[in-house]
Amino acid sequence: MNVQKLFADRIGGENFGKVQQTFKFTLINNAKGDFIAKNPSVKVIDMGVGEPEELPTPSIIESLFTEAKVKGNRIYPCNGILDFSQAASRYLKREFAIEADPRTEIMHCVGTKTALAQIPMAFLNPGDSVIATVPGYPVLPKASEWLGARLLPVALEARHNFLPELKELESLVRRERPKIVLLNYPNNPTGAVASKDFLRRVVELAHEHCFLIVQDAAYADYVHTGSFVSPLMIDGGKEVTLELYSLSKSYNMQGYRLGFVAGGAPLVKAFGLVKDNTDNGQFIAIQKAGMHALDSCGAFVRENREKYRRRLSRAAGILRRSGIAATESPSTFYLYAPVPKEFRGVPLETAQQMTDLLITRYGLITVPWDEAGPFLRFSMTFEVGTRDFGSEDEVFQALEMRLVHDRLA
Ligand SMILES: Cc1ncc(COP(=O)(O)O)c(C=O)c1O
Repeated sequence: MNVQKLFADRIGGENFGKVQQTFKFTLINNAKGDFIAKNPSVKVIDMGVGEPEELPTPSIIESLFTEAKVKGNRIYPCNGILDFSQAASRYLKREFAIEADPRTEIMHCVGTKTALAQIPMAFLNPGDSVIATVPGYPVLPKASEWLGARLLPVALEARHNFLPELKELESLVRRERPKIVLLNYPNNPTGAVASKDFLRRVVELAHEHCFLIVQDAAYADYVHTGSFVSPLMIDGGKEVTLELYSLSKSYNMQGYRLGFVAGGAPLVKAFGLVKDNTDNGQFIAIQKAGMHALDSCGAFVRENREKYRRRLSRAAGILRRSGIAATESPSTFYLYAPVPKEFRGVPLETAQQMTDLLITRYGLITVPWDEAGPFLRFSMTFEVGTRDFGSEDEVFQALEMRLVHDRLA
């Protein structure tokens, strides 16, 4: 039997596995390996990975341990326990003054990545179109494409503060009549924060032209300048929005796989139907640990936020002294900086070239983004105190030495 005939067209059909694809993270890992082989005594500065570098706070782990021993928590949780939705509702009210009914307007998810892949199944028919900002987290666009939808990318550019330009968005919406507009604020990778005026206009457009706003708020707790705004804060916003919140980044619970979706009741119900047919819900002990996090770990989030804000500001200063036009990031733990025309005499056209240069010459790992002009993303989730660097100061001293003084120390 020719197994190649089994593969769906969406993953390459008969060519699946035959075409050599090089993903940017593979290129980064290969270059990292080469650097370590050539410079075994030099520490690598890893600003590549975008996930929290510490354990959750001990009480979250304790809560998981305690709840894992409760017999009643072993069952299939399906679309979630009300207790968790109630904790999510209290969190939304306390942190952002958002009202959401825990019974009908909130549903837990097995991480927001999974929810982003499930949402299109509830809303898209083949041929529908989806507007998604680029650069961006690719999961909902990929799932939409797999369902036969058309993707309409909207570039996030510095001259518009990394928000879709409203006139362009409006004419695209009028012309293409999308079913979904995907937003992600606070934004990965640009670090941009949406304004209330911007979201108000998008909500108006959604009502006028009948589309769903999917707002990925995975970084809602990490706003450093200004404040988090949500379509759910705007009159009429809830009716047209599904917003996703994640416990991964705020509480360092990324491996726990827990988040929630909030929005208008019929929208949440539609998501719930797809969810119920594709997963059995997150382990109740994890939902209970998540309840504890949402209710009682605000101080931990504030400490995390302060740490990333401090690191972002230190990194931006060093990058500027090295000739890279970095500005303070208003949110997330990412610093998104434009690639200069040349660095240390090396002419540069793409972010991939700059990433290669920084790894091979300085053992500095970043992530390249070329989708809307060449930019690098520096993540402030680097690890200290365990291996390599003993402290945050050591990391920044090494960064300064390498980028500003061109010395590999
Ligand atoms: C923008 C964005 N959305 C969603 C996710 C997924 O987070 P999780 O599935 O852990 O909730 C990530 C993770 O990196 C992300 O950066």
